[in-house]
Amino acid sequence: MEQTIEKSEIDLKGLDFLTLLDYSPQQIKHLLEVAIDLKAKQKQGEQTPMLQGKSLGMIFENASTRTRVSFEVGMTQLGGHALFLSPRDLQIGRGEPIKDTANVLARYVDAIMIRTNSHETVEEFAQYSSVPVINALTDLYHPCQAMADLLTVLEHKGKLAGLKLVYVGDGNNVAHSLLAAGAKVGMDVVVSTPKGYEVDPVIFAKVQDAANETGATISLCTDPKEAVKDADVIYTDVWASMGFEAEQHEREQALKAYQVNEELVQHAKQDFLFLHCLPAHRGEEVSDTIIDGGHSVIYDQAENRLHAQKAILASLIR
Ligand code: CP
Ligand code: NVA
Repeated sequence: MEQTIEKSEIDLKGLDFLTLLDYSPQQIKHLLEVAIDLKAKQKQGEQTPMLQGKSLGMIFENASTRTRVSFEVGMTQLGGHALFLSPRDLQIGRGEPIKDTANVLARYVDAIMIRTNSHETVEEFAQYSSVPVINALTDLYHPCQAMADLLTVLEHKGKLAGLKLVYVGDGNNVAHSLLAAGAKVGMDVVVSTPKGYEVDPVIFAKVQDAANETGATISLCTDPKEAVKDADVIYTDVWASMGFEAEQHEREQALKAYQVNEELVQHAKQDFLFLHCLPAHRGEEVSDTIIDGGHSVIYDQAENRLHAQKAILASLIR
């Protein structure tokens, strides 16, 4: 996709945002257009009160810096309001069924954002909620992150289709959403993981179907050096995601050959970009020299969570 894309007439009102696999390439491109527009307006100091009087419920089962702050600030910038809801305080933490919680919250708020350990929880919430449910990270997907990632690559490279994006490390939620995002916009996505830490084969098969429709290529490669050959974008994430902290030591052993460092990036294109969803563990999945070096766009990427999510909120909320 070029940066000068036509304004498309796409209506996403009322939809959930659980995984990018549920969205068409046109819908994803539309969200990127809206994000670019909202970002430009914010930089010019133009107000965008598109969600005046609207409320977003935010349920966090796990910690968050970027997601919480960017969603809350995003709602404020759109003229609306966000409520932070911890399961510690909600009755859901004491066993109230998801069915009742989703039905009731949907009577008060205009959209619900959830970060939860199990993807099934988000799906169940969406089943019972009459307002849009937005996935803010589950064990399987992190679609809001992937939208910010696409926006960041588009801004820095001026296009998405045809670029080679290589994810190196643990085959986790972020890897799954990057695969889905890249497949939808026609990228060449390679995922390099050690044995035992591969991406979910069921998700990979679904992404392959999406890639077949767009002409994208997706592949798996055990050797990280071979994977990053001629990469336009190199991406990594922590080796032990939330919920896997107890495996930290064994994961460090299994994944140590997958660190993104000066030696590995020799094989990439000279003008490669380095992305990381953050939080990062310097010295584990990435060396200080790479994450803090000239190819790294991690802070642009973190900022773009705000703009990408404002586009999602403005497009989905009625
Ligand atoms: N990348 C990301 O989702 O960060 P947080 O966990 O801080 O929200
Ligand atoms: N894969 C990481 C991403 C954090 C934003 C995790 O799930 O902990």
